[in-house]
Amino acid sequence: MMECCIVLVTGDRQFGQRWVSELSQVVDSDAAAPLQLRFSFCDPQALEAQLCRGETQIVVLDDGDLDAQMLAECHEQIRDRRAEIDSVLLTAARVPAQNRDYESVISRGESNYGVVYRTLRRILLERTATPFADALREYVYAARDSWHTPGHSSGDSLSSSPWIADFYRFMGEHIFNTDLSVSVKMLDSLMDPVSVIRQSQQLAARTFGAAHTYFVTNGTSTSNKIVLQYLLRSGDRAIVDRNCHKSVHHAMIMSGALPVYLESAVNQDYGVYGPVPKSRIFAAIDATPDARLLVLTSCTYDGLRYDLKSIIDYAHRRGLYVLIDEAWYAHGRFHPDLRPTALECGADFVTQSTHKMLSAFSQASMIHVGQGVKDFDPAGFREDINMHTSTSPQYGMIASLDVARKQMSIEGYSVMQRTLDFARDLREFVREHTAFRPLDAAELCGQELADDAILLDPTKVTIDVGFAGLSAPEVQLQLFSQFGIQVEKNTHNTLSFLVTIGTTESKVLRLKQALRTLSETRSAMQKPAAGQALPPLSEIRVLPRTAYFARGEKLALGGEEGKALVGRIACDEIVPYPPGIPLLVPGQLVTEEILAAINAFVHEREDLEMHGLRKNAGRPAMRVMLPEEADKGLQERQSID
Ligand SMILES: Cc1ncc(COP(=O)(O)O)c(C=O)c1O
Repeated sequence: MMECCIVLVTGDRQFGQRWVSELSQVVDSDAAAPLQLRFSFCDPQALEAQLCRGETQIVVLDDGDLDAQMLAECHEQIRDRRAEIDSVLLTAARVPAQNRDYESVISRGESNYGVVYRTLRRILLERTATPFADALREYVYAARDSWHTPGHSSGDSLSSSPWIADFYRFMGEHIFNTDLSVSVKMLDSLMDPVSVIRQSQQLAARTFGAAHTYFVTNGTSTSNKIVLQYLLRSGDRAIVDRNCHKSVHHAMIMSGALPVYLESAVNQDYGVYGPVPKSRIFAAIDATPDARLLVLTSCTYDGLRYDLKSIIDYAHRRGLYVLIDEAWYAHGRFHPDLRPTALECGADFVTQSTHKMLSAFSQASMIHVGQGVKDFDPAGFREDINMHTSTSPQYGMIASLDVARKQMSIEGYSVMQRTLDFARDLREFVREHTAFRPLDAAELCGQELADDAILLDPTKVTIDVGFAGLSAPEVQLQLFSQFGIQVEKNTHNTLSFLVTIGTTESKVLRLKQALRTLSETRSAMQKPAAGQALPPLSEIRVLPRTAYFARGEKLALGGEEGKALVGRIACDEIVPYPPGIPLLVPGQLVTEEILAAINAFVHEREDLEMHGLRKNAGRPAMRVMLPEEADKGLQERQSID
């Protein structure tokens, strides 16, 4: 059983020794305890060292010894370094203080140490609880015959089949017997949580520092749509990073809002897009006084993080809501080197793909609502969630959200420390032992973002293999074919590796070995092809929703039809992937430059996927609005202006 350490901070050594000795005796008499607690004490100067130990789970501050200023400083230190752990006040006062900073209060004069012990144990038991996952396990072991969905009935339809029993055995029995439905009342309902799902969500809110947290089982793609549907109405303006995930563009279509796109900074040397320069965000906010919402992605796929506080404050001063897409940053709260998170910077809504960086199943996501969001309407938000939620959510996935939260609440600091150490070690190795180069924040950002205080999430390790004259797609191929190593993504000359809490010493070792081998045999490989520049966005002439739902016509990209595309209005989002940044969004004017770029992607980059194109008589084509549809769309747009 893992040990949980509880540290008393006091300058009164005699009292500290007695406190520890009394509580240790109670521990010894609690042989059947579900958690093993260990008590120690230190003076305030040693608190920092205690907080750097992952086992420290509760800090008790002794106001019988520390004055008010010291108490406040210690409390701030705990919040700064370990937001996920609890602090408790041990007070000599007979009238409790008003402040609500502490998880609990214990009297310094308490002579019954069993009471003190149980108070502290209760705090930890709450944090380590997984209400939904526990209920699911309990139900599975207690359940008898099922007469409800899913039809496989705990996997019995598979296990008894000579044709598909092998799949049952491969997947394992619990994949099937945890696959249940809303008919099982003791497992609550994701669409109207009142018991175990609600409790798990409340624990998540506490762990991540939100006012409310909602579990979502269709990925952050859906979480983004839910938040945008809640915030936007037809004709509302939303200032949006062009480089945002396509779910945000889709939400513009669904809500009928008018996006004001921000061009991301581009580092053509590496094919890296984003973030958006701060001055450009501020200028767009100033130029759009009626905007309702600002949406940014932090960190980006490449791990680049905005200096969020200044941006969120600026947006709030002008009355905007702020959604930060933290799909790639659910781990940010659990190590001081990674903070502040978007919620800590005051974001109103934050979406996170728990599955991307933490221990949850794919598609598991959370929406966090910030403290003090203006006019937050929980009932309305619930309606928007339910509109996007399957009435048959995956129960194993909900349990994985619960368990992933528990892990980060109790061992988040330790696992992130290990992850950051691996990432640092990998970077150092590449720098010192290969012909490749790990890129830092400044190199990834380029000049345009030099003054924006952009930070890099160290867990995203981008390596410039072009520096050694190699093509990244080729190195990627070799890593897989020779060493069985799969990377997260590549550009023309860089490879990105995601170091996660699931990374192990041996995986790091094998990656180092593979990179060194490829670096040493590099002359055998192809040289990198240059990256392809994306043209600037043209005008958004028509609301994305109107353009997308137009009947339109499909015109081929080349020949006479191609020429006729210029000046028309696009119905679909056209996106080369990677990098996944749209060349066109619905409602946007097709220009010669954009058409040329689309043609170049189609004909010269067969390695890429092109999303949004259609076919016309077998030729690649694009859907554009009919002239009469475009006229109506323009009138609608003018009525909004
Ligand atoms: C920035 C960003 N937001 C949202 C998403 C969608 O997340 P999910 O895969 O959880 O649906 C992604 C996916 O890659 C992403 O990169």
